[in-house]
Amino acid sequence: MEAVPGVGGDSPVLLLDDVHKIYNPGPLQVHVLKGVSMAVEQGDYVAIMGHSGSGKSTMLNILGCLDIPTAGRYLISGVDVSELDQNQLAEVRNRYLGFVYQSFNLVKRTSAQANVELPLVYAGVPKAERRRRALTALGLVGLGERTHHMPNELSGGQQQRVAIARAIVTGPSVVLGDEPTGNLDPTSTAEVLQIFGQLNAAGRTVVLITHETEVADHAKRVVVLTDGRISSDVRNAPVQGEPPNLIDLTGAEPREAEEAIA
Ligand SMILES: Nc1ncnc2c1ncn2[C@@H]1O[C@H](COP(=O)(O)OP(=O)(O)O)[C@@H](O)[C@H]1O
Ligand SMILES: [Mg+2]
Repeated sequence: MEAVPGVGGDSPVLLLDDVHKIYNPGPLQVHVLKGVSMAVEQGDYVAIMGHSGSGKSTMLNILGCLDIPTAGRYLISGVDVSELDQNQLAEVRNRYLGFVYQSFNLVKRTSAQANVELPLVYAGVPKAERRRRALTALGLVGLGERTHHMPNELSGGQQQRVAIARAIVTGPSVVLGDEPTGNLDPTSTAEVLQIFGQLNAAGRTVVLITHETEVADHAKRVVVLTDGRISSDVRNAPVQGEPPNLIDLTGAEPREAEEAIA
Protein backbone atom coordinates (compact mmCIF):
# COMPACT_ATOMS: atom_id res chain seq x y z
CA MET A 1 0.00 0.00 0.00
CA GLU A 2 1.76 3.16 -1.19
CA ALA A 3 -0.02 5.56 1.15
CA VAL A 4 1.04 3.66 4.26
CA PRO A 5 4.80 3.21 4.54
CA GLY A 6 6.21 -0.01 5.96
CA VAL A 7 3.18 -2.23 5.41
CA GLY A 8 3.91 -5.85 4.64
CA GLY A 9 7.15 -7.79 5.04
CA ASP A 10 7.48 -10.28 7.87
CA SER A 11 5.58 -8.30 10.49
CA PRO A 12 2.65 -10.03 12.18
CA VAL A 13 -0.60 -8.80 10.67
CA LEU A 14 -1.84 -7.69 14.12
CA LEU A 15 0.40 -6.74 17.04
CA LEU A 16 -0.71 -5.51 20.46
CA ASP A 17 2.31 -4.30 22.43
CA ASP A 18 1.70 -3.81 26.18
CA VAL A 19 -1.74 -2.32 25.57
CA HIS A 20 -3.64 -0.70 28.41
CA LYS A 21 -7.18 0.62 28.27
CA ILE A 22 -8.54 2.90 30.96
CA TYR A 23 -12.14 4.13 30.66
CA ASN A 24 -13.07 7.42 32.37
CA PRO A 25 -9.55 8.40 33.51
CA GLY A 26 -9.84 10.06 36.93
CA PRO A 27 -11.26 9.04 40.30
CA LEU A 28 -13.87 6.74 38.69
CA GLN A 29 -11.52 5.20 36.15
CA VAL A 30 -11.94 1.63 35.02
CA HIS A 31 -8.64 -0.06 34.14
CA VAL A 32 -9.84 -2.73 31.70
CA LEU A 33 -6.74 -3.89 29.79
CA LYS A 34 -3.63 -4.16 31.95
CA GLY A 35 -0.75 -4.78 29.57
CA VAL A 36 -1.94 -7.03 26.76
CA SER A 37 0.67 -8.19 24.24
CA MET A 38 -0.30 -10.46 21.38
CA ALA A 39 1.05 -11.05 17.88
CA VAL A 40 -1.22 -12.60 15.25
CA GLU A 41 0.33 -14.04 12.09
CA GLN A 42 -1.40 -13.83 8.73
CA GLY A 43 -3.51 -16.98 8.33
CA ASP A 44 -4.03 -17.70 12.02
CA TYR A 45 -7.45 -18.39 13.56
CA VAL A 46 -7.60 -17.13 17.13
CA ALA A 47 -10.42 -17.60 19.66
CA ILE A 48 -10.40 -15.15 22.56
CA MET A 49 -12.18 -16.49 25.64
CA GLY A 50 -12.74 -15.19 29.16
CA HIS A 51 -15.42 -14.30 31.67
CA SER A 52 -17.84 -11.47 31.10
CA GLY A 53 -16.10 -8.19 31.95
CA SER A 54 -12.58 -9.55 31.40
CA GLY A 55 -11.97 -7.05 28.57
CA LYS A 56 -12.58 -9.17 25.46
CA SER A 57 -14.74 -6.66 23.58
CA THR A 58 -12.42 -3.82 24.53
CA MET A 59 -9.49 -5.80 23.11
CA LEU A 60 -11.36 -6.67 19.89
CA ASN A 61 -12.52 -3.07 19.43
CA ILE A 62 -8.88 -1.96 19.59
CA LEU A 63 -7.93 -4.70 17.08
CA GLY A 64 -10.73 -3.42 14.82
CA CYS A 65 -9.61 0.24 15.16
CA LEU A 66 -13.00 1.05 16.72
CA ASP A 67 -11.20 2.21 19.88
CA ILE A 68 -7.65 3.26 20.75
CA PRO A 69 -5.33 2.12 23.55
CA THR A 70 -4.77 4.46 26.53
CA ALA A 71 -1.14 3.24 26.57
CA GLY A 72 0.91 0.79 24.53
CA ARG A 73 1.00 0.32 20.77
CA TYR A 74 -1.17 -1.34 18.17
CA LEU A 75 0.44 -2.22 14.84
CA ILE A 76 -1.20 -3.59 11.70
CA SER A 77 1.33 -5.21 9.39
CA GLY A 78 4.08 -3.30 11.17
CA VAL A 79 2.40 0.10 11.04
CA ASP A 80 1.48 1.90 14.26
CA VAL A 81 -2.14 2.86 13.65
CA SER A 82 -1.84 5.86 16.00
CA GLU A 83 0.46 7.46 13.43
CA LEU A 84 -2.04 7.27 10.57
CA ASP A 85 -4.17 10.21 9.47
CA GLN A 86 -7.92 9.77 8.91
CA ASN A 87 -7.58 8.80 5.25
CA GLN A 88 -4.81 6.29 5.89
CA LEU A 89 -6.77 4.80 8.79
CA ALA A 90 -9.85 4.42 6.58
CA GLU A 91 -7.69 2.74 3.94
CA VAL A 92 -6.12 0.35 6.47
CA ARG A 93 -9.52 -0.55 7.90
CA ASN A 94 -10.92 -1.15 4.43
CA ARG A 95 -8.02 -3.29 3.34
CA TYR A 96 -7.33 -5.21 6.52
CA LEU A 97 -10.38 -5.38 8.77
CA GLY A 98 -13.88 -6.85 8.56
CA PHE A 99 -16.02 -6.82 11.72
CA VAL A 100 -18.91 -9.16 12.62
CA TYR A 101 -21.11 -8.39 15.64
CA GLN A 102 -23.19 -10.63 17.91
CA SER A 103 -26.41 -8.83 16.97
CA PHE A 104 -25.72 -8.77 13.19
CA ASN A 105 -26.26 -4.96 12.96
CA LEU A 106 -27.90 -5.10 9.53
CA VAL A 107 -29.79 -2.06 8.25
CA LYS A 108 -33.55 -2.72 8.51
CA ARG A 109 -35.89 -2.61 5.50
CA THR A 110 -32.81 -2.84 3.27
CA SER A 111 -32.11 -5.89 1.14
CA ALA A 112 -29.32 -8.33 1.88
CA GLN A 113 -27.54 -7.12 -1.24
CA ALA A 114 -27.80 -3.43 -0.29
CA ASN A 115 -26.53 -4.22 3.22
CA VAL A 116 -23.50 -5.99 1.77
CA GLU A 117 -22.86 -3.14 -0.69
CA LEU A 118 -22.77 -0.54 2.07
CA PRO A 119 -19.01 -0.68 2.87
CA LEU A 120 -18.36 -0.30 -0.87
CA VAL A 121 -20.59 2.79 -1.00
CA TYR A 122 -18.41 4.34 1.72
CA ALA A 123 -15.31 3.27 -0.24
CA GLY A 124 -16.63 5.01 -3.38
CA VAL A 125 -16.88 1.87 -5.53
CA PRO A 126 -19.09 2.37 -8.63
CA LYS A 127 -22.55 0.82 -8.64
CA ALA A 128 -22.05 -2.05 -11.11
CA GLU A 129 -18.84 -3.13 -9.40
CA ARG A 130 -20.55 -2.92 -5.97
CA ARG A 131 -23.31 -5.15 -7.20
CA ARG A 132 -20.89 -7.69 -8.65
CA ARG A 133 -18.80 -7.86 -5.49
CA ALA A 134 -21.85 -8.05 -3.18
CA LEU A 135 -23.30 -10.94 -5.17
CA THR A 136 -19.97 -12.76 -5.03
CA ALA A 137 -19.75 -12.29 -1.24
CA LEU A 138 -23.36 -13.44 -0.76
CA GLY A 139 -22.66 -16.48 -2.94
CA LEU A 140 -19.64 -17.26 -0.78
CA VAL A 141 -21.79 -17.43 2.37
CA GLY A 142 -24.41 -19.55 0.58
CA LEU A 143 -27.01 -16.80 0.15
CA GLY A 144 -26.86 -16.32 -3.59
CA GLU A 145 -30.60 -17.06 -3.78
CA ARG A 146 -31.66 -14.58 -1.12
CA THR A 147 -30.05 -11.34 -2.23
CA HIS A 148 -33.34 -9.40 -2.33
CA HIS A 149 -34.63 -10.53 1.06
CA MET A 150 -34.97 -7.99 3.87
CA PRO A 151 -33.30 -8.83 7.20
CA ASN A 152 -36.69 -9.61 8.83
CA GLU A 153 -37.32 -12.18 6.09
CA LEU A 154 -34.17 -14.09 7.02
CA SER A 155 -33.39 -16.43 9.93
CA GLY A 156 -30.83 -15.38 12.53
CA GLY A 157 -28.24 -17.63 10.95
CA GLN A 158 -28.94 -16.18 7.50
CA GLN A 159 -28.74 -12.61 8.85
CA GLN A 160 -25.36 -13.39 10.37
CA ARG A 161 -24.22 -14.80 7.03
CA VAL A 162 -25.26 -11.51 5.37
CA ALA A 163 -23.23 -9.71 8.05
CA ILE A 164 -20.22 -11.91 7.24
CA ALA A 165 -20.66 -11.15 3.52
CA ARG A 166 -20.71 -7.43 4.42
CA ALA A 167 -17.51 -7.90 6.47
CA ILE A 168 -15.62 -9.62 3.63
CA VAL A 169 -16.92 -7.64 0.64
CA THR A 170 -13.99 -5.20 0.77
CA GLY A 171 -11.56 -8.15 0.71
CA PRO A 172 -10.02 -7.60 4.17
CA SER A 173 -7.18 -9.92 5.21
CA VAL A 174 -8.53 -10.12 8.78
CA VAL A 175 -12.08 -10.93 9.95
CA LEU A 176 -12.93 -10.03 13.57
CA GLY A 177 -16.03 -11.35 15.34
CA ASP A 178 -17.40 -10.36 18.77
CA GLU A 179 -19.46 -13.39 19.88
CA PRO A 180 -20.67 -13.89 16.29
CA THR A 181 -22.57 -17.07 17.23
CA GLY A 182 -23.85 -15.73 20.56
CA ASN A 183 -27.42 -15.24 19.28
CA LEU A 184 -27.60 -18.35 17.10
CA ASP A 185 -29.14 -21.80 17.53
CA PRO A 186 -26.81 -24.83 17.25
CA THR A 187 -27.52 -25.46 13.55
CA SER A 188 -26.88 -21.84 12.54
CA THR A 189 -23.80 -21.78 14.79
CA ALA A 190 -22.41 -24.80 12.92
CA GLU A 191 -23.09 -23.14 9.55
CA VAL A 192 -21.45 -19.87 10.57
CA LEU A 193 -18.43 -21.73 11.99
CA GLN A 194 -18.01 -23.54 8.69
CA ILE A 195 -17.97 -20.17 6.91
CA PHE A 196 -15.31 -18.75 9.24
CA GLY A 197 -13.38 -22.01 8.74
CA GLN A 198 -13.58 -21.70 4.95
CA LEU A 199 -12.49 -18.06 5.07
CA ASN A 200 -9.50 -19.08 7.18
CA ALA A 201 -8.66 -22.06 4.96
CA ALA A 202 -8.61 -19.59 2.05
CA GLY A 203 -5.91 -17.57 3.87
CA ARG A 204 -7.85 -14.97 5.82
CA THR A 205 -6.89 -14.31 9.42
CA VAL A 206 -9.79 -14.85 11.83
CA VAL A 207 -10.06 -13.54 15.41
CA LEU A 208 -13.26 -14.39 17.30
CA ILE A 209 -14.45 -13.70 20.81
CA THR A 210 -16.51 -16.53 22.20
CA HIS A 211 -17.91 -18.05 25.38
CA GLU A 212 -18.48 -21.41 23.72
CA THR A 213 -15.87 -24.18 23.73
CA GLU A 214 -17.52 -25.51 20.55
CA VAL A 215 -16.49 -22.31 18.78
CA ALA A 216 -12.98 -22.39 20.25
CA ASP A 217 -12.64 -26.00 19.04
CA HIS A 218 -12.63 -24.61 15.47
CA ALA A 219 -9.75 -22.20 16.13
CA LYS A 220 -6.05 -22.85 15.68
CA ARG A 221 -5.14 -20.91 18.81
CA VAL A 222 -7.07 -20.14 22.01
CA VAL A 223 -6.22 -17.06 24.08
CA VAL A 224 -7.82 -16.59 27.51
CA LEU A 225 -8.23 -13.14 29.00
CA THR A 226 -8.55 -12.89 32.80
CA ASP A 227 -9.18 -9.50 34.41
CA GLY A 228 -7.51 -7.58 31.59
CA ARG A 229 -4.48 -9.82 31.16
CA ILE A 230 -3.73 -12.81 28.92
CA SER A 231 -3.70 -15.79 31.30
CA SER A 232 -3.33 -18.56 28.71
CA ASP A 233 -2.37 -18.83 25.04
CA VAL A 234 -2.54 -22.33 23.52
CA ARG A 235 -1.93 -23.41 19.93
CA ASN A 236 -4.09 -26.30 18.72
CA ALA A 237 -3.13 -26.27 15.03
CA PRO A 238 -0.41 -24.70 12.83
CA VAL A 239 -0.95 -21.15 11.54
CA GLN A 240 -0.90 -22.34 7.94
CA GLY A 241 -3.35 -24.89 6.57
CA GLU A 242 -6.94 -25.72 7.40
CA PRO A 243 -8.37 -25.01 10.85
CA PRO A 244 -9.56 -27.88 13.09
CA ASN A 245 -13.02 -29.40 12.57
CA LEU A 246 -13.59 -28.01 9.11
CA ILE A 247 -16.01 -30.27 7.31
CA ASP A 248 -14.69 -31.50 3.98
CA LEU A 249 -17.49 -30.68 1.57
CA THR A 250 -16.07 -32.58 -1.40
CA GLY A 251 -18.56 -35.28 -2.17
CA ALA A 252 -21.39 -33.57 -0.31
CA GLU A 253 -24.68 -32.96 -2.11
CA PRO A 254 -24.35 -29.82 -4.31
CA ARG A 255 -27.16 -28.09 -2.43
CA GLU A 256 -25.60 -28.89 0.93
CA ALA A 257 -22.27 -27.67 -0.35
CA GLU A 258 -23.84 -24.44 -1.56
CA GLU A 259 -25.66 -23.96 1.73
CA ALA A 260 -22.47 -24.36 3.71
CA ILE A 261 -20.46 -22.26 1.18
CA ALA A 262 -17.94 -23.23 -1.39
N1 LIG B 1 -17.19 2.68 27.43
C1 LIG B 1 -16.97 2.19 28.66
N2 LIG B 1 -16.89 3.01 29.73
C2 LIG B 1 -16.63 2.51 30.97
N3 LIG B 1 -16.46 1.21 31.24
C3 LIG B 1 -16.54 0.34 30.21
C4 LIG B 1 -16.79 0.78 28.86
N4 LIG B 1 -16.80 -0.31 28.05
C5 LIG B 1 -16.59 -1.37 28.85
N5 LIG B 1 -16.41 -0.98 30.14
C6 LIG B 1 -16.11 -1.86 31.27
O1 LIG B 1 -14.92 -2.56 30.97
C7 LIG B 1 -14.98 -3.89 31.45
C8 LIG B 1 -14.69 -4.85 30.33
O2 LIG B 1 -15.71 -4.74 29.34
P1 LIG B 1 -15.69 -5.59 27.99
O3 LIG B 1 -14.43 -5.31 27.26
O4 LIG B 1 -16.97 -5.32 27.31
O5 LIG B 1 -15.63 -7.08 28.58
P2 LIG B 1 -16.12 -8.46 27.93
O6 LIG B 1 -16.33 -8.27 26.47
O7 LIG B 1 -15.01 -9.42 28.25
O8 LIG B 1 -17.37 -8.84 28.65
C9 LIG B 1 -16.35 -4.05 32.08
O9 LIG B 1 -16.23 -3.87 33.47
C10 LIG B 1 -17.15 -2.94 31.46
O10 LIG B 1 -18.16 -2.51 32.34
MG1 LIG C 1 -18.01 -8.49 25.26
